[in-house]
Amino acid sequence: MAVGYEFEPKILGFLCNWCCYAGADLAGVSRFQYPPDMRVIRLMCSGRVDPAHIFRAFSTGQDAVFIGGCHLNDCHYVTHGNYDALGLVYLCKKLMEYIGLNPKRLRLEWVSAGEGIRFANIMNEFGPEIEKLGPLGKGEGIDEHELKFKLEAVTKLIPYIKLVLSERLRVSNRTEEAYTKFFTSEEFSRLFKELIGDKLDLNVSARNQTVRTAAVDKDKIERIINKHQGKSKSLVQVLLELQHENQWLPQDVLDRVCEKLGVPLSRVMQIVTFHNTFSLIPKGHNEVLKNNE
Ligand code: FES
Repeated sequence: MAVGYEFEPKILGFLCNWCCYAGADLAGVSRFQYPPDMRVIRLMCSGRVDPAHIFRAFSTGQDAVFIGGCHLNDCHYVTHGNYDALGLVYLCKKLMEYIGLNPKRLRLEWVSAGEGIRFANIMNEFGPEIEKLGPLGKGEGIDEHELKFKLEAVTKLIPYIKLVLSERLRVSNRTEEAYTKFFTSEEFSRLFKELIGDKLDLNVSARNQTVRTAAVDKDKIERIINKHQGKSKSLVQVLLELQHENQWLPQDVLDRVCEKLGVPLSRVMQIVTFHNTFSLIPKGHNEVLKNNE
């Protein structure tokens, strides 16, 4: 795409210390030429990359993210973290596609410590590919504000998305074939839509309508939370009272609950997304039921 000026892509790379980082180092020492578009963060294992890292990179102006790990079955840890990275990348690509971003902006590669030339070749391909795609959002024809809304909506859901990934999208067989088979299956698309896509749609539309806590009686909310301050055992009770009082649970109310009760957001999301009693979208005080309900 033509952007009217020379576009230099910003790429953030997460490289595993033992293989890909050493491979990149070897490429440098061997003086193999590749574009200097990537800034590198060194991790002990590619399995340490979190969806929050990827979407934070996009939210803060990176045009692409690269993850480099040891070849499958060569991970230096018994956990085989590179399989976790593989599942994560499949899921994040799906999320990107869902919000209108080109999934090619996220790339995962396996590079061993002795493969300096392979690292340089990958960079020689990836840099120009992202240059051709153009800046994040603009390249896809997404307006800056819409992109911000969408990335915020994904970011807010990340604790829940991680939970879904570990509980519902886990592949028991640690082989590349098994991962590819599952993450390209209709079953995965269905689960993604049901468990994540629908929530994302609601989050995006709620944010677009700028539905905030303005309609919330903040004093009552504070009273409920303060009553149980510091008592993490009261979490379900607090959430029930808040739901009853407000008819739904806005994000900033949940953040306040976490802060006052000292519980992680992932625990709160686990509860509110499991029980039908709770709603994460605005509701009126009355509910209309259809005849067959
Ligand atoms: S140590 Fe390199 S991917 Fe796990």
